[in-house]
Amino acid sequence: MSERERVTIFDTTLRDGEQSPGCSMNADEKVRMAHQLDRLGVDVIEAGFPVSSDGDFYAVQAVAREVRRPVIAALARCKREDVERAWQALHGAAHPRIHTFLATSDIHLRHKLRISRWECLEQARDAVQQAKSFCGDVEFSAEDATRSDPDFLCAVLEAVVEAGATTINIPDTVGYTVPGEFADLILRIRQQVRGASVVISAHCHDDLGLAAANSLAAVSAGARQVECTVNGIGERAGNTSLEELVMIMRVRCDRYPYQTAVISEHLFPASQLLTEITGVAVQPNKAIVGRNAFAHEAGIHQDGVIKNALTYEIMTPESVGVPGTRLVLGKHSGRHALGLRCAELGFPMDRRELDIVYRQFLSLADSTKSVDDRQILELISRGRSSRPPDVPALPQEGPGKSVGEPCHESLPSQFPLSYLAKSVGVGVDGALLHCVREHDGEQQEDYLWGV
Ligand code: KIV
Ligand code: ZN
Repeated sequence: MSERERVTIFDTTLRDGEQSPGCSMNADEKVRMAHQLDRLGVDVIEAGFPVSSDGDFYAVQAVAREVRRPVIAALARCKREDVERAWQALHGAAHPRIHTFLATSDIHLRHKLRISRWECLEQARDAVQQAKSFCGDVEFSAEDATRSDPDFLCAVLEAVVEAGATTINIPDTVGYTVPGEFADLILRIRQQVRGASVVISAHCHDDLGLAAANSLAAVSAGARQVECTVNGIGERAGNTSLEELVMIMRVRCDRYPYQTAVISEHLFPASQLLTEITGVAVQPNKAIVGRNAFAHEAGIHQDGVIKNALTYEIMTPESVGVPGTRLVLGKHSGRHALGLRCAELGFPMDRRELDIVYRQFLSLADSTKSVDDRQILELISRGRSSRPPDVPALPQEGPGKSVGEPCHESLPSQFPLSYLAKSVGVGVDGALLHCVREHDGEQQEDYLWGV
């Protein structure tokens, strides 16, 4: 196979991600998360927006000092004080990057910034020149690029490349573009902007649920950096989800022949750590890292997965750091999955026992969302303790009768062998269950239980 081209992963969990409601992080939390991003193998960590608050300034400074392998970026508007503050926060970094941005769409220029196109171009060029005087690695972002006049956008990009920008980032700030259109824009920038041999980057928001698709369209059109966040957190509907992007390029490398340096086994731990730090849970059906991403409930699916996981899984849970496939037991589940779960809980069942438990399981599952292990244990206990009506009282422990000894009392013929057993458990059922576990080695087809 030919060598796959490398795509730079620019993680902005600590900047755009933390702009998500409820996701703000203090310096210690940012440093913890940054170490995890380092283990994950991202190329660039955008640590924050130093001019926005003293807390964020110190957070960027702490990340820059402590996390040495990746590039550490800090955001700055195209204003002198912003660029200076970003550099003050960054200059202890092993690999610093100043990331400066200015909107280029008429909507933003007219209504938000109240400046002309000419002023916009001048401010962008000046900020990049200033940043370049501090640091070799300078990124410029044209905010709201996808709603900008493409000719004006290209003029601004050309000016900042001339001024020394090493990466030009094309944000779909409001999540408005669609894959074909975004790919055309990237191609146009590559053709029209002189000096666009610099890295072209894509930064997508997910307002229409297209952030990952748009980012990949940009990569196919020649972008070689993608900006994304763990769990897809970010302004409004969020940013491109890092885990989705990385796994699409890995699972569908036939269509996206690109590689990243991300160690996919660290994806789930990174997702979990972010949830722990922010307290913001991931939606259960979130691709790759959601609680249900490797969970199966339908009987047909469970049966397939038990026989061979490839039937319903396009990647292994282990490949993204998820401990394993989860079979959720609910009303759609089959007896195969129930039997497996019972065996995992320590109660392998023969066909007859499973029939009884399965019938009870279905009626319980009809009235509840899913059946958990505790409920399954109760069903097993109930199924196994149903005593046939003609059974005589069982012998008690006492003189001449000790635990584990066969009993010779006359019992119905369907129970040719019986043992006296004693165990301790929560309630009568619990004690019985322990008896089953402790005395199950005989492989008996039928059990007779007495209390
Ligand atoms: O979405 C956006 O435009 C941004 C820029 C600051 C890069 O986050
Ligand atoms: Zn953004």
